[in-house]
Amino acid sequence: MTQQPQRYAKITGWGKYVPEKILTNADFEKMVDTTDEWITSRTGIKERHIRAEGENSSDMSVKSALPALEMAGITPKDLDLIIVACSSPDYLVPGVATIVQEKLGASCGAFQLTSGCSGWVYALVTASQFIQSGTMNNILVIGTEILSFGIDYTDRTTCVLFGDASASVVLQATNKPAGVLHYELGSDGSGAKSLYVPAAGTAMPLGKHAKEVIDNKLMYLKMDGPEVFKFATRVLSSSMKRTLDKAGMLPEQIDLFIPHQANLRIIETAARMMRQPLDKFFINLHKYGNTSAASVPLALVEAFEQGRIKAGDKVLMCAFGAGLTWASALVQLGEVEGAEAAAVEQGSIAENWLSIGKARYLAKKTVNAVQDTVQNLMMNWKMRQYDAARRKKQQRESAN
Ligand SMILES: CC(C)(COP(=O)(O)OP(=O)(O)OC[C@H]1O[C@@H](n2cnc3c(N)ncnc32)[C@H](O)[C@@H]1OP(=O)(O)O)[C@@H](O)C(=O)NCCC(=O)NCCS
Repeated sequence: MTQQPQRYAKITGWGKYVPEKILTNADFEKMVDTTDEWITSRTGIKERHIRAEGENSSDMSVKSALPALEMAGITPKDLDLIIVACSSPDYLVPGVATIVQEKLGASCGAFQLTSGCSGWVYALVTASQFIQSGTMNNILVIGTEILSFGIDYTDRTTCVLFGDASASVVLQATNKPAGVLHYELGSDGSGAKSLYVPAAGTAMPLGKHAKEVIDNKLMYLKMDGPEVFKFATRVLSSSMKRTLDKAGMLPEQIDLFIPHQANLRIIETAARMMRQPLDKFFINLHKYGNTSAASVPLALVEAFEQGRIKAGDKVLMCAFGAGLTWASALVQLGEVEGAEAAAVEQGSIAENWLSIGKARYLAKKTVNAVQDTVQNLMMNWKMRQYDAARRKKQQRESAN
């Protein structure tokens, strides 16, 4: 039996859509007890885009998908699958993906993938599996959120953080190494209630609990900000490091890091923990806020548009969010050829040794491991201090 050539899922097209309406920090100063200074210093966010009246996630998905399909040089009819990462679908049932399929005029399978802000990276990895297994050739992977619909605009602790957007990529089959080469998908359901919408699911059906839900605003996103902050600062760098280890690569070999755009302080911590300059981390959260499942693909598209990445580059993406979940993907843009391609086929460690040399790689790994241990100890110490300060504050509040 002849051996089938290895298949990869290359990114061949991309597109984005952000609604025109903008809410600035100055707008929030008029809506809740906050200031531009507080929002900027605690989050880095300046503006977020908000959907037009009547605009739904399916509409926004189509608007980001069409340019991606055009760039890939295919029509919706060529698609084998559509995955829409989304936590804010048009309806609870059906998932938004079938509506997108119909609006695009595609005739393939379609499903929604709900995994909070990690959803699009989960979807990218999932789509890659269908192509790599040889069963599909063209897949559209969309990340869309209309978070503004589920936010309590009187709650200053959440409303300033989120925005609406959509971004898409097309994946196509190739035999040359490309696309997702290594990944990590993670989940810790013990933190489910750190970031969740209490009502409208089976746990609290609207029909039965309507008054309680409305009186207590349980249809809106509830978040334990400091808990999520702690989780995010830990997982962003640690997940990227684990994915790099799988690839046998060092952080300095990555051309651009594309982190989930939730909070500048979380990204700055990740850069420190990876001992990489902040300018190797793509940042656009000041313009959009946290757009959940749209965040990483929107950053990817803008990195292409701004010439920050090109074919041949390696990017490392990482998202985290509700679930709690996280997902990292090491993505090869374009295709690699020649000796590098052969080395990837043999195994990633071989590829890395080829590019930087085995002795240098092992020496750097050892130094990194020591530095990681020291940094992790310091982070644990800081987290304990942070927890102690929170406990003291709670005690003071309950004493008053
Ligand atoms: C939300 C977040 C920015 C808050 O920052 P923080 O430094 O942890 O602030 P705290 O929650 O400890 O709150 C500090 C104070 O600021 C207040 N505050 C919260 N939001 C505020 C706002 N928008 N404007 C002004 N003050 C605000 C709090 O009420 C608190 O006041 P108090 O000390 O009088 O009680 C931060 O916790 C965070 O980014 N968490 C992760 C959120 C996230 O990324 N979620 C999505 C993940 S996908």
